[in-house]
Formats: sequence, structure tokens, C-alpha cells
Amino acid sequence: MQFTATTLLALLGAASAAPARNIQARDGISITLYPEANYTGEPTVVSDVVRNKCQQVPEDVTVGSVKVSSGAFCRLTYSEPTCSLHGDVFVFLDTPAEDLTGETVTSFLCQTCTECLSGKR
Ligand SMILES: *[C@@H]1O[C@H](CO)[C@@H](O)[C@H](O)[C@H]1NC(C)=O
Repeated sequence: MQFTATTLLALLGAASAAPARNIQARDGISITLYPEANYTGEPTVVSDVVRNKCQQVPEDVTVGSVKVSSGAFCRLTYSEPTCSLHGDVFVFLDTPAEDLTGETVTSFLCQTCTECLSGKR
């Protein structure tokens, strides 16, 4: 009996461990800022982006192209010093921004989206 209970607990522990990691990965928004177009150059990865909050691009970071993690979309702003209401560029997993070298991206605001988990909107 004791063996059974221990085994059951072990199984439960194993079963709940894997989904927990997935949920964490899905909820953690990350945005990758590349200094050059077409996702080249030394990237700056910002993990655990706080959702629905404007983030300023650090002054020493050049944004030439941008990708975001699945389940997230980010609105980039370059027309104002901080996030404009709607943003200037929307970035989804399946719609990264390949060339922003003509603009100076100042800030971004990321949100989670359930329908874009698989890259669909
Ligand atoms: C980015 O890649 C596209 C498609 O391959 C190409 O047409 C474009 O010239 C590239 N842009 C830069 C700045 O390298």
C-alpha cells in the first residue's frame, strides 16, 4: 500500500513537472533585437518581458530587425520617444520585422495572444 502511494506520488510529480515547464515557456514573452536587418548581428534577447507594459529600448541597443516568441506579439514604436497608443510596427512569430534600419525604434509593448501560439492569428 505504501509502495503504491509512493509510486503514485512519483508518477504525479513526473506528470506535472513537464507541463509546468511548457506553461512557463509559453507565458514568458521574449523579444530578440538584432542590430542589423534580416536577423543578423549580435542579438539582444529580452526574456520575461512584462506584458502590457511599455519597455524602452536601451540607448546602446540598435534595432535593425526583431523577432518575438510564440504566443506573443509586440508593438514597436519609432515615431515617438516612448510607446505610442497603437505602435508603428506589429511583430508576431510569423511576422517578424526584417528591416527597421531606416528607423530608430525607441520602445516596445508586448502582449500575449492565444490565437498566435502556433504562429496563426
Ligand atoms: C534581407 O533579405 C531580403 C530577402 O532575402 C533581401 O531582399 C534584402 O535585401 C535583405 N536586406 C538586407 C538589408 O540585407
